[in-house]
Amino acid sequence: MTFRIAQISDTHLSDDKPFFVDNFVRIGEALRADRPDLVLNSGDISLDGASNESDLAAARALHDGLGLPVRFLPGNHDLGDCQDAPSHGEAAIDDARRARYLAHFGADWWALDVAGWRLLGINTQLLGSDLASARKQDAAITAGAANLGGRRLALFLHKPLFDRTPDESEITGRFVNPRPRQALLASLGGAAPALVACGHVHQYREMWVQGGRHVWAASTAFVIPDHRQPRYGLKEVGYVEHRLEPDGTHESRLVRVPGVPTLDIVDFPGAYGPIPTAGRPGTQ
Ligand SMILES: [Fe+2]
Ligand SMILES: [Fe+2]
Repeated sequence: MTFRIAQISDTHLSDDKPFFVDNFVRIGEALRADRPDLVLNSGDISLDGASNESDLAAARALHDGLGLPVRFLPGNHDLGDCQDAPSHGEAAIDDARRARYLAHFGADWWALDVAGWRLLGINTQLLGSDLASARKQDAAITAGAANLGGRRLALFLHKPLFDRTPDESEITGRFVNPRPRQALLASLGGAAPALVACGHVHQYREMWVQGGRHVWAASTAFVIPDHRQPRYGLKEVGYVEHRLEPDGTHESRLVRVPGVPTLDIVDFPGAYGPIPTAGRPGTQ
C-alpha cells in the first residue's frame, strides 16, 4: 500500500494575529477530503510561539480540528532559532522554549516505520546547539538510521540541509550550517536518505543531490518577496504530497488548493513588524 504524506509547513498560526488562519482552514478542508495517511507539519507551526505560548496553543487546537493523524516538527518560530544562526533579533532555542513546545506538540524528534520506509523527523534548531537534548537527539538520529532492515530513509526537518551541495561553507539562518550539517550526515552513518523534506524558506523546490530527492515544502501561509529573499524555486502557497511505495520508489509534488491565495508577508506588517532590512531571514 502506498503511504501518502501531506506535508504542510510554515503555517504561522496565531489567535492574536490570525492573518494566516484562513489559508490553514481552507487547506485543512482539502486535506480532510483527500484523507492522507499522515499530515506532517515541518515547522513554524505558530506565528511566534518562541515568544508567545498562546500561539502554540492556538496552532495545536487548529491542527486537532483537522481530525486527521498529524505529526509535528518544530521550526525557529516555535522554539527559537539555531544557536549558530546569524543574529537577527530572533530568540535562540533554550531549554525553556523547547519545554513549552514539547508541552503542546510532543516529541521534537521521532521515527515512524511504514511499508518499505523509515520516516525520521528531527528538530533542526537543536543541531549544533549546546543543550544536553542535542546530544540525545544525535544519538536518536544514529539509532534511527541504523537497522533499517532494507527500508529506505526519509528525513524530515525544518530547514534545508543546504542550497545546492553538502559541502557549502556559508553560515546562514536559511540552511543547516556547515558544522552541524556534517555532524548530522555523520550521525546518519552512511545511510543516505532517499528523501529529505523540509520547509522554512516558503518556496517549493525539488532537486536531486547525490541520489537523494530534496523537497522544500511551500508555506500554507505566505511568501517573501524577491527584494527580501532570493528565488530558489516557486513562491506559491500550498502543501506537498509525498507518495512512498513499499518497493522504495517515491514521488513528491506541490499541491495547489483552489481558492487559497498566495499572501505576501509585506502586506502583513503586523505579523512581525516592519522589517526593512534586505535579506533578513527572520520571517522564514
Ligand atoms: Fe522557519
Ligand atoms: Fe516560516
